Amino acid sequence: MLATQIIAKTRDRIELSADEIQFIVRGITDGTIPDYQISAWAMAVLCRGITPAETAALTAAMLDSGDKLPRCSDRPRVDKHSTGGLGDKTSLILAPLLACFDLDVPMLSGRGLGITGGTLDKLEAYPGYRCDLTTDEINRQLNQIGCVITGTTATVAPADRKLYALRDASSTVPSLALITASIMSKKLAESLDALVLDVKWGSGAFMQTLDEAKQLEASLVTTGQRVGVATSSLLTDMNQPLGRMVGNACEVNESMEVLEGGGPADVVELTVELCVPLLIATGRAADASQARAKLSEAIRDGRTLKVYQKMIEAQGGKFSERLPLAAPHDVLAPRSGYVSCFDGQNLGHCVVAMGGGRRQQMDAIDHRVGLEMLSKIGDSVEAGQPLIRFFYDGAGTGSGTGVGTQIDEVSRQILAAISIADEPPPPLSLIVNH
Ligand code: URA
Repeated sequence: MLATQIIAKTRDRIELSADEIQFIVRGITDGTIPDYQISAWAMAVLCRGITPAETAALTAAMLDSGDKLPRCSDRPRVDKHSTGGLGDKTSLILAPLLACFDLDVPMLSGRGLGITGGTLDKLEAYPGYRCDLTTDEINRQLNQIGCVITGTTATVAPADRKLYALRDASSTVPSLALITASIMSKKLAESLDALVLDVKWGSGAFMQTLDEAKQLEASLVTTGQRVGVATSSLLTDMNQPLGRMVGNACEVNESMEVLEGGGPADVVELTVELCVPLLIATGRAADASQARAKLSEAIRDGRTLKVYQKMIEAQGGKFSERLPLAAPHDVLAPRSGYVSCFDGQNLGHCVVAMGGGRRQQMDAIDHRVGLEMLSKIGDSVEAGQPLIRFFYDGAGTGSGTGVGTQIDEVSRQILAAISIADEPPPPLSLIVNH
């Protein structure tokens, strides 16, 4: 088999066999196909598209390029994947919540990507929290507590690591098939029985339009089902941050509010709704209304909080009820009216600029910086009223300017990301009906 023939077939929209796809993935993993041919093939996939069968074969081959987490109990294994967005903290609550139902949740998670925060960065706001558990440590913790949130190991889907770096360098990231294979090969390495996907659309998400998000959702679900995992999905709104808090320690603190039985209604609703199909798929609930009742009770009676605390401590974290934040500053409404939209990309860039995310791979994170949304889309506001509070004391930007100047600059950027209109905007649906 020749790499050039395979590139030409994809270029000419001729479907590849599973053997041909395995050949490409083997060549990516062991380095026998040079980077320029892999990049050319990725560009052909991006421009010409590949079929659902090819996407499933690519996912399976990338999954098989590395190790899978071995099963360590008879309990069903479940997990969630979110395509990411501002303030998306559901993983922190969902993993211990599902563990309350005698399910194993081996969540292999990631770091921040672009403007979207990463679950591992959030949990590392607890001093000492370890995200580099070995397979034995993961299994031990699953047997003791039922949930783990840690990083992918070097041996999980190595083909994805190599291909992702080449996609990044060859402008071939936004291919539905390549995104699908990348996400699913890592998730399926957890040896799951059931998976739920939270596919987000909107200004603070990877997929900016509803149509793109629907296509990604269909591709992810079809691929999961083709490889034999009970896969379901929710399509959810990311035109404004989820909950009120954005940023690492900010989101941990807001998750604690939910675990204590309070917290913003949208965070609670989304977390519960993501768990519903998993409880049904594993026989823990007969239907959605029973699942919702059981899940709400497991939060209300404090069981989930106990599991969460055990998880943080088992992974070396110094648990505390609230984590410290940087100094607060308020951004005030320049006029009266209705909050009509947020520019999620720019809000995310502000958090990164304050040091809450990475501009370069090796950047250190200031976990204490972030945003508190004092208003949400549709709220009526008066001129001079605080709209967004940001937590920042000038330690993160490294721009060399004075702290006061940096704080003014962040205020200006945040203000530019908020629109106020005379009329209320149409209401948003957190969960888009299918
Ligand atoms: N997340 C991934 O893991 N891979 C992609 O290709 C895009 C988002």
